[in-house]
Amino acid sequence: MNILHIDCSPRPESHSRELSAAIVKQLLAVAPGASISRRDFAAAPLPHASPDYATTLSSPATLAAPQKGALELSEALIQEVEAADVIVIGTPMNNLTVSSVLKAWIDQILRAGRTFKSTPAGKVGMLRDRPVFIGIASGGVFTGERANQPDFLTPYLSVVLDSIGLKTLQFLSAQATAFLDRDQATLARDKALAGIDLTVMGEIACL
Ligand SMILES: Cc1cc2nc3c(=O)[nH]c(=O)nc-3n(C[C@H](O)[C@H](O)[C@H](O)COP(=O)(O)O)c2cc1C
Repeated sequence: MNILHIDCSPRPESHSRELSAAIVKQLLAVAPGASISRRDFAAAPLPHASPDYATTLSSPATLAAPQKGALELSEALIQEVEAADVIVIGTPMNNLTVSSVLKAWIDQILRAGRTFKSTPAGKVGMLRDRPVFIGIASGGVFTGERANQPDFLTPYLSVVLDSIGLKTLQFLSAQATAFLDRDQATLARDKALAGIDLTVMGEIACL
């Protein structure tokens, strides 16, 4: 089994890093032999869409005849997703949605004709489904009665990942981090982690 483990926070004491690491630990408990592919988009951010990449994606004709090398990064990142049996993402909520470094990854892995088909009814995913665990840290609260802001993170990520075929998503969040001391943060992480459903791992864990 191969786990693709992605982190996005630039902070060393990051709550989302702790959460994603704890999720990976849980996965390793059910699949001890799993290998881990790592992407740290804070330490090694992906570039924004280059002129060649943006031009290639700008029409069906340019997509059919891409400029040399224009799709290399996108292809490498998509192949990483394809090689993963499970994906774990740690991201902060930044301005109500995903971190910009994660958005740069999304811009590379959603590609017409490669990871989704463009149809009159919308995008249809071309990748095999697999579990995706998303560990979120937010300074404020975005779910439940105490929510003090809208959530454009979980609906957005659900739609974009669904559009390439990744439908089995679990969001685990440590919220109100701005108001937590270390001990409270550990409790919040453990509480988030308690919501994990590892039954989705099913037969994958045996791979
Ligand atoms: C640029 C920026 C934007 C942020 N926007 C939000 C936000 O919209 N909502 C929120 O609850 N917290 C927001 N925060 C706070 C972070 O989500 C919070 O500090 C979180 O714990 C960061 O994740 P980390 O602990 O993994 O670094 C923002 C932080 C930064 C740096």
